[in-house]
Amino acid sequence: MQELDVAQEAARAAGEVIRRHFQHGAIARAKESGSGTYDLVTDADLEAERTIVQVIRRRFPTDAVLGEEFHRDDVAAPRLWVIDPIDGTSNFAHGIPHFAVSIGFYEAGQPACGVIYNPIREDWYLAERGQGAFHNGRRAKAAVSERLDQVLIGVGFYYDRGAMMEATLATIGDFFRQHIHGVRRFGTASLDLCSVGDGLFGAFFEYTLSPWDFAAGALYVQEAGGTVTTARGEPLRLEKTSLLASNGLIHQAALDVIRPHHP
Ligand code: IPD
Ligand code: CA
Ligand code: CA
Repeated sequence: MQELDVAQEAARAAGEVIRRHFQHGAIARAKESGSGTYDLVTDADLEAERTIVQVIRRRFPTDAVLGEEFHRDDVAAPRLWVIDPIDGTSNFAHGIPHFAVSIGFYEAGQPACGVIYNPIREDWYLAERGQGAFHNGRRAKAAVSERLDQVLIGVGFYYDRGAMMEATLATIGDFFRQHIHGVRRFGTASLDLCSVGDGLFGAFFEYTLSPWDFAAGALYVQEAGGTVTTARGEPLRLEKTSLLASNGLIHQAALDVIRPHHP
């Protein structure tokens, strides 16, 4: 679909901006609206979001945009772009090349297509509703594992050092007691979702995510045959929410571990 092409064009343009900043060493500062000194933003986040929106508006001038840094259109708009210019800013700011541009396109409240792009590794993750998910051109497929003791679990920590952090740590402990192969915290929710779609993680959870963190990645998981709900097992909505993504087969078993700790 045209929107997928435009999302790719926008991600590619943002990738150039991000690479330039990454090579010169990003200067990070605490976000003014953020949760603490560890909630970072850089000039690259701001410039990349402007670049993405410019590309989208050139082709679709009247579409609504929800972007992490400065776009807050109505999420109920019939055509909506949901943008995270750099997902994984802490990695970016510390020189770790594991971050991504994430762009999801929603039509009538439903995800229609999404792009997640790591501009350093030149990794492209594309999803289109009903058409599948593709990682660098290869069809993505969630893992076939049926039990928790056969999988790695991905986890994310929201910018919180209180109840949410404690709940996440307690859940990790319970997962280990289910004999999982291990826990991974890579620091980029959109790429964590791609890891579920690609079958690297059996499941991924986080107790708070924002729409731009998962708008594209949730579709990627579903198109790869996986399941995405809130961490309570409810349908996911485009709002600040908890999230559990899995290969589907272990979804209930994972829910049984994470739901009791839900803050
Ligand atoms: C963050 C990352 C991280 C997740 C946080 C997100 P940001 O996004 O996706 O993995 O744990 O909850 O906020 O701030 O780097 O765009
Ligand atoms: Ca993010
Ligand atoms: Ca971000």
